[in-house]
Amino acid sequence: MSKYKAAPRIPNQNRHWPENSITHSPIWCSVDLRDGNQALAIPMSIEQKLEFFDLLVKIGFKQIEVGFPSSSNTEFEFVRRLILENRIPDDVTIQVLCQARKHLVKKTFDAIEGAKNVIFHIYNSTSPSQRKYTFGMSKEQVIEIALDGIDCIKQCIQEHKFSLPNIQLEYSPESFSMTEIDYAVEICNAVGSRWGWNPDNKIIFNLPATVECYTPNVYADAIEYFSNHILHRDCVIISSHCHNDRGTATASCELSLMAGSERVEGCLFGNGERTGNLDIVNLALNMFSDGVDSGLDFSHLNYIAQKYTKLTGLEIPLRQPYVGDLVFTAFSGSHQDAIRKALKQRSKLPEDSVWDVPYLIIDPRDIGREYKEIIRINSQSGKGGAAWILEQDFGYFLPKAMHPVLGKLVTEQADFLQRELSPSEIYSLFDSTWINQVSFRKLEILDFVETHVDGSESSSNVLCRSVVRIGDKKYAIGSKGNGPLDAFVASLKNNRIVEPFTISAFHEHSVGSGSDSDAVAYIELSFENGRKSWGVGLSSNVARAGVNAVVSAINFSNGCYGGK
Ligand code: KIV
Ligand code: ZN
Repeated sequence: MSKYKAAPRIPNQNRHWPENSITHSPIWCSVDLRDGNQALAIPMSIEQKLEFFDLLVKIGFKQIEVGFPSSSNTEFEFVRRLILENRIPDDVTIQVLCQARKHLVKKTFDAIEGAKNVIFHIYNSTSPSQRKYTFGMSKEQVIEIALDGIDCIKQCIQEHKFSLPNIQLEYSPESFSMTEIDYAVEICNAVGSRWGWNPDNKIIFNLPATVECYTPNVYADAIEYFSNHILHRDCVIISSHCHNDRGTATASCELSLMAGSERVEGCLFGNGERTGNLDIVNLALNMFSDGVDSGLDFSHLNYIAQKYTKLTGLEIPLRQPYVGDLVFTAFSGSHQDAIRKALKQRSKLPEDSVWDVPYLIIDPRDIGREYKEIIRINSQSGKGGAAWILEQDFGYFLPKAMHPVLGKLVTEQADFLQRELSPSEIYSLFDSTWINQVSFRKLEILDFVETHVDGSESSSNVLCRSVVRIGDKKYAIGSKGNGPLDAFVASLKNNRIVEPFTISAFHEHSVGSGSDSDAVAYIELSFENGRKSWGVGLSSNVARAGVNAVVSAINFSNGCYGGK
């Protein structure tokens, strides 16, 4: 293992950041239209960039890096259109990127002519390997590149008659993460001194992890060290710019905020060179989940994701934090059960009570996502998940004791199909098992008449006469009872056409609303041999729902003698 070695640690003797936490939002700067765009196989057209710009404004970005105007005509023209068509809201500052090279600085000033407020972002590479391989220059010579760039910007400001407060300087020692920390401080101090330190127009020192090359704590150390060693700290804004080469851009950026960074550059959903830039959505929603207002509006995340995929042509992974299709989906039965119970309890609490639902980092509704996505049913889903779907999507509140019975059926079906079941498939399994018993049909009521024995409608003393069919045999049966259900059960028993049973549980509620509502009854029968069976009956009449539930339970348990 001699080919690779870990990046050197930062001599951060004065380490305080681990004690800090993120208590307020940073200044956000979207670099989607520059860093993100330059990483697309087919960069966005002007029209696409305009649409993306409007989206960023809607989300609430107040600083937007709109491009690299000296790099291509499209980039240049896009900036011109933003300015000439008055598309930049007064409270939004555009940022333009430029290498520290005179002719490029001049071209960039042509692009921003007429803009109200601009962050002029100038950079040059500072790492040892860039100095050695790319430029073949000494440290001093590389500092001169930066200072020449600053001189040129100052000259252009005068030529273009910008007043200084409307131009803010951003300087990036590109490859900061691979640059010796003291040299990075030295070049930034030189830049600051040449530009002029001013607490009313602070310089942004953007410290890029151009390539993420160490663990997040080392980036935090670098930021804290820089913060402690840069001259005139009160005239400086430290900005984090994290790439995701090691997959820890979000963590690096979070720790850097704890370490003194005040500003964050990144892209929606982590677009950007190679493994991407910091995912601003991820970071902002992490803050949101900690109860910190990020100042960005992701309450319609699906809409933002759709626009993003349309404009960039990129897909969002299914498990991407907050936005992925599967993020609010529980496959495990125990997860579903816990979510179901917690959501039920929560529905009795005020909307803004503290979110403590297991397995869901935030309430999906807060970012415009839906509960429907929370539970899908597969063979691992356990007993609660399917009952939850029937409750939420179809209004059937099965008694708790019935959940395992339904759960077993659903599990068997999912195993058989080797895939998860959709809510409508779960409903049709429930319906064909208990309500419209296609495959179980043994006992059927062909005719049913109930007569109140003493002639009064309010009397519970009822004579019930019915014609039932078992297989191809018909039976005319009848009995008296304390209500239609009792009378029907007595007539079945007296005529000995089903196994003897008693009703051991009964639940009912209405489904649907208004004139369309029906009664649904859930009945558990206990047979003499100890077997138990659940049935479900549906009718516009409560008593008939109970009668239908008894028939359903007998059929579900194969409890007919079949005319013995
Ligand atoms: O990642 C990087 O270093 C950059 C600079 C141009 C700021 O994008
Ligand atoms: Zn970058």
